Amino acid sequence: MSNYHIKHFEEYFQIYRKSVRDPESFWSEVAEEHFLWQKRWDNVLEWDFKKPEVKWFSNAKLNITQNCIDRHLQTKAERTALIFEPNDPNEAAQHITFRKLHEEVGKFANVLKEQGIQKGDRVCIYLPMIPDLVYSTLACARIGAIHSVVFAGFSAKALATRINDSECKMVITSDGGYRGEKTIDLKGIVDTSLETCPSVEKVLVAKRINSEISMKEGRDLWLAPLIDKASPDCPIEVMDAEDPLFILYTSGSTGKPKGMVHTTAGYMVYTAYTFKNVFQYREGDIFWCTADIGWITGHSYIVYGPLLNGATTVLFEGIPSYPDFGRFWQVIEKHKVTQFYTAPTAIRTLAKENLSYLDNHDLSSLKILGSVGEPINEEAWHWYNDNVGKKKSPIVDTWWQTETGGIMISPIAFSTPTKPTYATLPLPGVQVALMDEKGEEIKGNQVDGRLCIKFPWPSMARTIWGDHERYRTTYFDTFENKYFTGDGALRDEVGYYRITGRVDDIIIVSGHNLGTAPIEDAINEHPAVAESAIVGYPHDIKGNALYGFIILKEVGESRIHDNLRKEINQLITEHVGPIAKLDKIQFTVGLPKTRSGKIMRRILRKIACKDLTNMGDTSTLLNPEVVQSIIDTAL
Ligand code: WTA
Repeated sequence: MSNYHIKHFEEYFQIYRKSVRDPESFWSEVAEEHFLWQKRWDNVLEWDFKKPEVKWFSNAKLNITQNCIDRHLQTKAERTALIFEPNDPNEAAQHITFRKLHEEVGKFANVLKEQGIQKGDRVCIYLPMIPDLVYSTLACARIGAIHSVVFAGFSAKALATRINDSECKMVITSDGGYRGEKTIDLKGIVDTSLETCPSVEKVLVAKRINSEISMKEGRDLWLAPLIDKASPDCPIEVMDAEDPLFILYTSGSTGKPKGMVHTTAGYMVYTAYTFKNVFQYREGDIFWCTADIGWITGHSYIVYGPLLNGATTVLFEGIPSYPDFGRFWQVIEKHKVTQFYTAPTAIRTLAKENLSYLDNHDLSSLKILGSVGEPINEEAWHWYNDNVGKKKSPIVDTWWQTETGGIMISPIAFSTPTKPTYATLPLPGVQVALMDEKGEEIKGNQVDGRLCIKFPWPSMARTIWGDHERYRTTYFDTFENKYFTGDGALRDEVGYYRITGRVDDIIIVSGHNLGTAPIEDAINEHPAVAESAIVGYPHDIKGNALYGFIILKEVGESRIHDNLRKEINQLITEHVGPIAKLDKIQFTVGLPKTRSGKIMRRILRKIACKDLTNMGDTSTLLNPEVVQSIIDTAL
């Protein structure tokens, strides 16, 4: 029995038990079996959740790109590593072999070095889903620079906040990007954000849409001529196991995004391991994850997890609705995709469309379907299972987070019996606890509580960039000696987990995590606004939509300003991005507050959900009368 590859359900239990009984020997066997190390570790694990401090494979030396690329050159140089499928189906797809990937990453890495980037420097990558995004990410890792990929849908202000937080020295972007019929002016957005980013010395610009853009003398450089001149040979930088590999920002419940820091060895071992097992990867498989590399799902299961296993991974530039709603199915047929990994919001969008979009395509290559990012509702699960998987492809509903680096709770395809809406069982090495509000662990089955992890796993984020105290208070302060996920979950009669959703001030809209605070901050910038509160309410396609309760400085101003709603959404678009726009805006005279001045969102949530049956205890409110007035004018 190999620890690295679980093949049956009984094996899962044996391996899981071993991983709990003796985590150190379990993970060291996995690490030894499948990776190249420049130097072996001294200790497998050192940890203290109080500080908190976690170190995996301490003092080991390695480079993750050697494991993603060089290691495969002997046996798989001519195998396709990356299939690039452009936005426009009429543009030819590109098949990039491991040999070519090695060359491109080597050249890019040499360009970075020539432009002054050194080990430990932060490089912000703001690119559409094109091969340069993969090359630049891996090029950073090759020379030990810390990549900070920012999703190219974020606004100039959101980009600037992220660049400044980690003081990036360089930004890598493109003239623009395609999104269905539209183009996006990425360079223009970068230019605006760099007005407030003093740390950035250089901007490398890839050409994608051939638009007219302005280039700032001394700062901006076209990428292509530099790449043309660069040598494809770039030796690896030897990294320590705990050297940061990347920073990825995620929403927090205060205004500032949290720069989650992932380190090298643990992240490598865990993403490779989970990719192999959850998706039962076999040689020859074509894996397609539809996420953007700007999110953790793309980092771990478009780039690192697949490449570490020598797999072929699809890089899709487009969107599910362009040129029509058959696009996903057409790509599956065209590239003979074997594993398809997407988000419930995409499934719900496509399920609304005519089944002929599906039936026009041959999906017989599919073996396994995946879901990630938010709870998948029963209807969407069945639609996915019946129509896409034709009831023969298991659905792996994978629960995890930016902070966890890799999949934590999920079926193992073909081994774990699935159950609609359940992420099922923790993967080897993942020790789950459900906690009650008093801080006690809830034992037994058929219970629900707050989802915590009570033992370190290799790919956990080690800190928040520049703010270790925030890392401690956000994740390790709520429950003693446990990592708190911010999610609620229930455990059924056989021990399967179902994630019920966030229990904090984060709302997941179309699979994107949005903190309420930055949206409220944006709204409050409007001169007419006194105060605001955002809550989520259920939405057929997006999962949740946003409902804003807004107090104006002067009552009746909403009538004077016809455009107020539009202006507020415009502000949100500028500060956070269009994904955070409000679907409903209710102007109100007050917000329910506790005596300590905290907005009672629980009540607002009930109003937004039109659930007025039991408002719960409102006696602790400073202003209970305001509740009825909000209900009376609710949308
Ligand atoms: C939610 C995405 C239910 C959850 C990988 C988590 C899920 C947050 C699932 C993290 C799932 C993710 N079922 N909920 N299968 N997967 N979530 O950081 O609330 O973008 O805490 O990472 O998404 O979102 P993030």
